[in-house]
Amino acid sequence: MIRYIRFTFAMLAVLGMASHSVMADPIADRKENFRNNVKSLKLIQPALAAGDMDVISGEANRIADWAKVMPDYFPEGSDMGDTKARPEIWKNWADFIAKAEANHDAAVTLADLAAAGDTDALPMAMKALSDTCGACHKLYKY
Ligand code: HEC
Repeated sequence: MIRYIRFTFAMLAVLGMASHSVMADPIADRKENFRNNVKSLKLIQPALAAGDMDVISGEANRIADWAKVMPDYFPEGSDMGDTKARPEIWKNWADFIAKAEANHDAAVTLADLAAAGDTDALPMAMKALSDTCGACHKLYKY
């Protein structure tokens, strides 16, 4: 009986992984998305000075969209290979998700403020956003 249960769980684990393997290379994909984050921040920076609200909200929304799906790109076991992801991610999964959500929310706040033309609030919102990058990297990236 126990053997059967173990077998069932093993099968479920395999099936669970199969549904994830739609993504051929989550490590390469997530790194590309993170590099796009840097590109977005580099576009937002001059847009702040120029008061280009469309660029700010557009790029901040891109960051938010990535943050929303980010945890899907960290399937269990993907701390192996060409990656700087720390194994702590999977030990503290709920906290990792919370940090991705904080990143998402800060990006949405920046996008909304730009869309509303609230220029005074933008520098603080930009700093708050980049702080959420650092907060996650500190714990979960080598
Ligand atoms: C919830 C956690 C989390 C948040 C939020 C986060 N990152 Fe990361 N980031 C990681 C992890 C983990 C890695 C390592 C990924 C790997 O090597 O597989 C990483 C890697 C990177 C890399 C290196 C990519 C490469 O090619 O190796 C860059 C650049 C980066 N992040 C930028 C950012 C920026 C900019 C933000 C905020 C706008 C951000 N990250 C937000 C967790 C996060």
